[in-house]
Amino acid sequence: MIRDLTDDEARAALLCKWGEVATDVLPAWVAEMDYALAPPITRALTEAVAAGLTGYPRLGVGGPLGRAYAGFAERQFGHVVDPEQVLPVVDVTAGVRLALDAVGARGPMVMPVPGYAPQLDIAAITGRERLDLVVDPDAARAELDLDLLERHFANGARSLLLTQPHNPWGRAFTRAELEGVRDVVLRHGALVVSDEIHAPLVLPGAEHVPYLAVEGTAGHTVAVVAASKAFNIAGLKCAQLVTADPSLAERLRSVPMARNDSWSSLGVAASVAAYDHGDAWLAALRVRLGDQRALLGELLATHLPEARMRPLEATYLAWLDLRPYGHDDPAAVALERGKVRLSPGHHYHPGLSGHLRLNLATSPERLTEIVRRLARAVTATP
Ligand SMILES: Cc1ncc(COP(=O)(O)O)c(C=O)c1O
Repeated sequence: MIRDLTDDEARAALLCKWGEVATDVLPAWVAEMDYALAPPITRALTEAVAAGLTGYPRLGVGGPLGRAYAGFAERQFGHVVDPEQVLPVVDVTAGVRLALDAVGARGPMVMPVPGYAPQLDIAAITGRERLDLVVDPDAARAELDLDLLERHFANGARSLLLTQPHNPWGRAFTRAELEGVRDVVLRHGALVVSDEIHAPLVLPGAEHVPYLAVEGTAGHTVAVVAASKAFNIAGLKCAQLVTADPSLAERLRSVPMARNDSWSSLGVAASVAAYDHGDAWLAALRVRLGDQRALLGELLATHLPEARMRPLEATYLAWLDLRPYGHDDPAAVALERGKVRLSPGHHYHPGLSGHLRLNLATSPERLTEIVRRLARAVTATP
């Protein structure tokens, strides 16, 4: 069910991932997958274009998109969502900004680090100081430091940008961990913006617990979700804000139109198709990504035995600690010497050396070549 794109197809389809690199470079950087679209999405988009669906989208909450997301959340995560509390936004990054602007109190924002690189700027862009919740690169398991979270709130932070599951930690936080976060947040009356874009991408063996599915979170939480990452439709521009508290929903809904950059009609059509008819494809995708994860483990053991990768529970983005190979920026070395583009670790954790992020959502053959090129590059004597 998961069809690998050929190189030519990938270059035509994925203008950022494949178009921003020279033709002799293998791309394993930006979070897009080298797989053909799920057939229900292709069908929905083809029909939408044939029908001339190129006007403005429907306004407001709920509607087919709200119902489709609610159905998906219930089937996939056992999480009951009120369709009338699903508000479309253009993309997840804009949704996070909107949530902070519309319902976040002024004051510093806490962010787990390493964190999704563009979001490192969100605090400053929304007029806030960023307080980092840093994971020690030597920690055996990437965990949210609740003592530090407590101190950040005690020192004046008013919001937490959670990412669940986490990119690039690869963690799907457990209910107990999320309850720990909730307890700290409740003690300080803070806001949680929970970026759950990777929620459908839990790998075999893990489970996604929506933060809003944890008791006692409704009054302080805006979740930001999308079909875009799991179904490879990021360019269609449609994400959703989800709340479980009518007054929070009302505050988000009532922002001036100029504040919520509009989402796209084709994005809605594709998202509805993904949520309503994408379960079987998604199940196959998770199996494929689980196989890729296992293959990556084998390839690292063979070609980069000193690399360290914590267990990857979710996402198709592996966080690799290559410090034993002695390069400050192994991604730059890999690009220059190995012709493979990976994401530098310091983009996610400013000042951190020796790490990179590898996108494994490709064919087994390409993944093998990616790791071989990386290994040759970082082990070569200059
Ligand atoms: C955690 C996280 N949030 C947001 C995004 C970007 O989402 P969007 O393109 O909808 O802004 C990504 C992209 O990979 C991501 O990993």
